[in-house]
Amino acid sequence: MMTDEKVEPHSIAAKTAHWGFLLVYIYALTKQLDEVEELEDFSLLQQEMVFAVIFLVLLFARFVFMQTTRPTALPGDTPDQTRLLARIVHLAMYAGLALIAVSGLVIGGLYWSGIKSGGMMDAALLVHEIAVNTSYFLILGHVIAALFHRRKRDGIWNAMVPVWKEPSEEAGVRPGV
Ligand code: HEM
Ligand code: HEM
Repeated sequence: MMTDEKVEPHSIAAKTAHWGFLLVYIYALTKQLDEVEELEDFSLLQQEMVFAVIFLVLLFARFVFMQTTRPTALPGDTPDQTRLLARIVHLAMYAGLALIAVSGLVIGGLYWSGIKSGGMMDAALLVHEIAVNTSYFLILGHVIAALFHRRKRDGIWNAMVPVWKEPSEEAGVRPGV
């Protein structure tokens, strides 16, 4: 179905998956642990493990849904480099988020089986921390790219973001970027 937008907006399902997952991610960050000793509380350990599995399932479902429907709203005449960069950042975000949960599951699995410290635990904690920090950088880059598209008024922002819509071209001179 064509609209008067420059590019066809993402579907309601795609927007729900995108913004719904942002809430899941923020919720996960609010319940982050400060130190491994907190896992001594067995019910907390169990909750963390269950949450990490749910997080992975939702992430995977979203990935499959987007890949099999419409991974990007970028139009066909987008330069190859831009298309490639967007694809790399999108896939890296999926990989980084999955790694947070998988390394969390490894930490929990080690703790559960009595390996509460040592080289393996240190390595899992390091991977967990690197994955978390990488996700921050990738998401920051992603948001900067989204803002760049909003400035270009090419419709990509409007295709996914329901608020603070791109100003129409009549509202001002179109920047030459
Ligand atoms: C946890 C935070 C976020 C993650 C993990 C994320 C991830 C993604 C991914 C993977 C895509 C590609 C489509 C898909 O597979 O769903 C996408 C598309 C998009 N995201 Fe985000 N996003 C996040 C937050 C945001 C925010 C805060 C904004 C804007 C302020 C934004 C703007 C967009 C836009 C405009 C698209 C469409 C790009 C296109 O059609 O090529 N995202 N996002
Ligand atoms: C999707 C699921 C998860 C998310 C989003 C997440 C997120 C985080 C974040 C943001 C931190 C702080 C990292 C930092 O200080 O730089 C953290 C630390 C930690 N997480 Fe997770 N986590 C998840 C799953 C798990 C699971 C399943 C476990 C174990 C059962 C776990 C155990 C820990 C521990 C022990 C720390 C403290 C590490 C330290 O001592 O520095 N996490 N997590």
